Amino acid sequence: MGSSAADSAERFREKYARGLGHASRGVEREACGSALVNGYTTAEQAERLAWMLNVSRGSRFLDLGAGLGWPGLRIAEITGAHLVASDIPIDALAGALAWWKDTDVYPPATFVAADGRSLPFVPGVFDAVVHADVFC
Ligand SMILES: C[S@@+](CC[C@H](N)C(=O)[O-])C[C@H]1O[C@@H](n2cnc3c(N)ncnc32)[C@H](O)[C@@H]1O
Repeated sequence: MGSSAADSAERFREKYARGLGHASRGVEREACGSALVNGYTTAEQAERLAWMLNVSRGSRFLDLGAGLGWPGLRIAEITGAHLVASDIPIDALAGALAWWKDTDVYPPATFVAADGRSLPFVPGVFDAVVHADVFC
């Protein structure tokens, strides 16, 4: 991993390990429409993404750099497609799993710790891929 990529990964690891406070969750819910958000994708944009991905029950899609599960969990909730949420910090994925347990509909979901530059998936396994605020 290059040093700036390593710095960035470390920054996110620390951020998720610290946990996100009540106030910052409230700000995200107010600004973006969901407390899962850890970037800039609004609830309305997540719903548009769900439509654009063209997935449904029986499809499988990857949310790369999913953080706490945004927008993947929302897309899975709307479409019923199987979410594979992937990110590097385990604490992020643990957070995503906790949010998943809180959803009303329990969309099928799998959580995979991996670096997006070297993913452990065979080619062709996903019907769609989404990422939000990851290539920044
Ligand atoms: C700004 S956050 C966005 C999180 C989430 N997608 C959202 O919109 O709330 C960027 C995310 O990208 C992840 N990330 C950064 N580099 C990555 C890489 N090489 N592979 C996988 N995830 C990465 C970070 O750990 C972090 O969770």
